[in-house]
Amino acid sequence: MFGIKTAALPATLPRLLGLALLSAVAWSASGHALDAEQKRSRALLENLCGRCHAVGKTGQSPNPLAPPFRAFGEKLYDTDMVQRLQDGLTTIHPDMPTFRFSRYEAAAAVNYLRSIQRSR
Ligand code: HEC
Repeated sequence: MFGIKTAALPATLPRLLGLALLSAVAWSASGHALDAEQKRSRALLENLCGRCHAVGKTGQSPNPLAPPFRAFGEKLYDTDMVQRLQDGLTTIHPDMPTFRFSRYEAAAAVNYLRSIQRSR
């Protein structure tokens, strides 16, 4: 006798639950400053760049020649960093692997990088 009621549950319920879970994770995991998109960018940068650069707000770069990302400072404003990330940054240094960010990823990455700059 309950079978009919159960079958009438909206098909969207699982999706709603998924959304609620996602936002719960985003809220609880963030200390304060980083939003979900910035954290996705940090994960991406840690993946691609973390073997040489310090990607977070603290720590030394594994490769002493590679500047920590939090020290870029004005460079993130003076040059078109979003465009450079899309172009692959190949001109910067021969040690750097070739990579290519989508326009969206590049904008999000620069957004993240700006958020971690020291004393701004
Ligand atoms: C294999 C090591 C390595 C990896 C991986 C790497 N880098 Fe670098 N990167 C370097 C080194 C070394 C320098 C310093 C080059 C120099 O000053 O001549 C550098 C310099 C830079 C600079 C220039 C800083 C400046 O002074 O203008 C930027 C921007 C940069 N890296 C971004 C990235 C990003 C973004 C990634 C990941 C997508 C990445 N790097 C991955 C080694 C690396």
